[in-house]
Amino acid sequence: MPGFPLPEVPLPGGDVTEGIVRAGDTVRRPLGPHSPLVHAVLAHLEAVGFEGAPRFLGTDERGREVLTFIEGEVAGRPHPAWLADDSRLASVARLLRAYDDAVAGFAPPAHLLEGVAPPDLPGLPPEPEPPPGAEVFIGHLDVTPENVVFRDGQAVALIDFDLVRPATRLDEVINLCFHWAPLSPEQDRSEPLRGVDAVARTGLAADAYGLDAASRRAFVPTAVRRTERSWHLMRHRAQTLGGGWARMWEDGVGDKIQRRLVWLEAEGERIRAAL
Ligand SMILES: Nc1ncnc2c1ncn2[C@@H]1O[C@H](COP(=O)(O)OP(=O)(O)O)[C@@H](O)[C@H]1O
Ligand SMILES: [Mg+2]
Repeated sequence: MPGFPLPEVPLPGGDVTEGIVRAGDTVRRPLGPHSPLVHAVLAHLEAVGFEGAPRFLGTDERGREVLTFIEGEVAGRPHPAWLADDSRLASVARLLRAYDDAVAGFAPPAHLLEGVAPPDLPGLPPEPEPPPGAEVFIGHLDVTPENVVFRDGQAVALIDFDLVRPATRLDEVINLCFHWAPLSPEQDRSEPLRGVDAVARTGLAADAYGLDAASRRAFVPTAVRRTERSWHLMRHRAQTLGGGWARMWEDGVGDKIQRRLVWLEAEGERIRAAL
């Protein structure tokens, strides 16, 4: 029935975006400076037939992006026990590999990168050097449990492309491991991930992804540098964007990042050996 408004059901999500709803078979999300790049990525994924992402259907009469809703199971809060299953983690790593392979052929026009360029902040440590021979493509870089759809215990789709930006395969696997190994001390993990062997799960994720040798050698120093940078970037977003970013900062995300740094430095040798 054209023009008949569909009932909208709020989708409780991650920490940041407010006003995400499901309407029928679609999801409506607010637009941001990153949106033109996100839409170009989703159009590329559709053109190459990659099934593990929502389709971008356009914008609605209220200026929101319209995406296909992907049926399946997504981890909410509190986190489900299955987050600790190694087979789930391996399937997420394979899905991420498939996404990276699909997006690697996409060369975005330069103007689309303007909305996602990292700010030049005083004290911000420089970007880590990419490993020798590394490709740079538009990474997902936000593979949290809340951003993966599962069916029958297997990861089938990534959602929430708001943080896409230039990345290497190593950056993608580090981001995956931050959330899923997880690369953090027990006190900062959600309940199901306390007691898992995060170092072994890092090796498992790298194997399931098929990470190359040069990236494995650069894993620990790059993860340390990314962690240092994220402290500055998160503080900057809290100060300039407010909202969910400010809430996360007030809730102590900066201290969590510092504890991750200490943990990475303590476990670095074991991680190197597991890779
Ligand atoms: N296309 C989609 N298909 C299925 N579920 C979705 C989709 N988009 C969002 N969701 C659900 O809504 C939640 C929040 O959406 P998300 O895009 O991740 O926003 P946020 O920026 O708040 O993390 C997700 O964790 C997921 O449960
Ligand atoms: Mg999300």
